[in-house]
Amino acid sequence: MTTSNPSVLRDGLLAGKSAFITGGTSGINLGIACRFAQAGARVTILGRNPEKAQRAADEVRKFGPDVLALTADVRDYAALDAAIRTSVEKHGPIDILINGAAGNFPAPAVGISANGFKAVVDIDLLGTFNACRAAFEHLRKPGANVLSISATQGSVPTLAQVHACSAKAGVEMLTRVLALEWGPAGVRVNAIAPGGVEDTEGMRRLSGGSEESRKKGAETVPLKRFTTCAELAEVVLFLVSPAAAYIHGAVIPVDGGHAIAGFGT
Ligand code: HXC
Repeated sequence: MTTSNPSVLRDGLLAGKSAFITGGTSGINLGIACRFAQAGARVTILGRNPEKAQRAADEVRKFGPDVLALTADVRDYAALDAAIRTSVEKHGPIDILINGAAGNFPAPAVGISANGFKAVVDIDLLGTFNACRAAFEHLRKPGANVLSISATQGSVPTLAQVHACSAKAGVEMLTRVLALEWGPAGVRVNAIAPGGVEDTEGMRRLSGGSEESRKKGAETVPLKRFTTCAELAEVVLFLVSPAAAYIHGAVIPVDGGHAIAGFGT
């Protein structure tokens, strides 16, 4: 994993802060974990697979020393609640919750069973609710942040993505409602909506693993390229920092203009 170098954000921006990152064992979320550790945070990453979580923790430790890897499925409220309590015991109250756990596969609606639809909605939307709900009492407020990872699919109807589009649209509305409810407590609640991200499982799944389809996809983006985990982590670091203190209830596209162009470019 690499981080943005040089960064425009100052060193030690998250010194003394504790971050809990669901799905933090790979992709965008692992990039955020590494960047947060580099910025001085104590970082807890949560994934489903213990070996993968340990490997990811080793990666994050290259950027900062205080890293905890825990396992739970975000669909399992009790397990997630227990993981959050473990994180609080070891790292103290949570300053930043990143909701990154997600599931996806490309399939037309008629190729998705009720259970397939439910699996994606439960990981993306119910999982985000579960983490927010379980973490709230442990958030060090005011000044705490909840930041969810949505996707272009949350606002742009996308072929073969009915499950993910529905789930991410839900994540975006959940973000706005929690911003209303938790703003008075000083907890900021926001989301980012990335488009395609290089070197991620999502990119591999949605491009079918083919270089040609990946290149064709990038051509539909007004900036003519996809983003990187390092570039997204930088945006997330800004959003949870005091520099973004008045950004609240926002879903911020980080997609090179993909959503405004739709898929018609
Ligand atoms: C049709 C499929 C399918 C496919 C799985 N299913 N893959 N249906 N086409 N390609 C169906 C199964 O047949 C089953 O339905 C149901 O989905 C649940 O599958 P399980 O494997 O039992 O579920 P589970 O173990 O919970 O796995 C969830 C998963 C899996 C989403 C299906 O792929 C997963 O765990 N993914 C996590 C990693 C991941 O997806 N990373 C990429 C995230 S990308 P039946 O009826 O047979 O029981 C991302 C960013 C992209 O989110 C941006 C867009 C939002």
